[in-house]
Amino acid sequence: MSVKTLTIDGNQIAVKEGTTILEAAKEAGVNIPTLCHLGGVTDIGACRLCLVEISGSRKLLPACVTQVAEGMEIQTHTQKLQEYRRMLVELLFSEGNHVCAVCVANGNCELQNVASKVGMAHSRFTIVFQIEAWIYLTNNLA
Ligand code: SF4
Ligand code: FES
Repeated sequence: MSVKTLTIDGNQIAVKEGTTILEAAKEAGVNIPTLCHLGGVTDIGACRLCLVEISGSRKLLPACVTQVAEGMEIQTHTQKLQEYRRMLVELLFSEGNHVCAVCVANGNCELQNVASKVGMAHSRFTIVFQIEAWIYLTNNLA
C-alpha cells in the first residue's frame, strides 16, 4: 500500500493510502472535534463538526469521511472553522430543550463537551433562524 505525504496545520506527515483526514490528524497529534464518529460504527459524515479546510477546495470537507491525498494542505482550526463549528453546536442545542444545569447528563455529556471545546456559552438561534442557518450551511459545505 502506498504512502501519502501531506501537511496538517503546516506540519508534514506521511500516512497510508486510504487513511482519513481525521485518522491522519490523530496520528499527527491534532484533535479535531467530532460528534458522529463513533467506534465500531461506519462514518457517514452526519454532524459536520469535523470540517476542515483544504487548499484548493472551495468547500469545507468532513475529516471523518475524506481520505488523504498526496500533497494535501489541510487546516483544522482556522477562524472560519471555529465559527462554523460553533454555529453547528448552537443549532444542535437549539433543536432540543437543553438546560444543562438541571440535566441528569450534566458533566457527562458529549454535546456539552463539544460545546465547551468550541467555546459556546449559549445558543443565539430560534427555530426560524435555525432553518435559515441550515440552508446557509448546506449551501456552503460539501
Ligand atoms: S448536559 Fe447534555 S443532554 Fe443535558 S442539557 Fe446539557 S447538552 Fe443537553
Ligand atoms: S464526526 Fe460527524 S461528520 Fe465527521
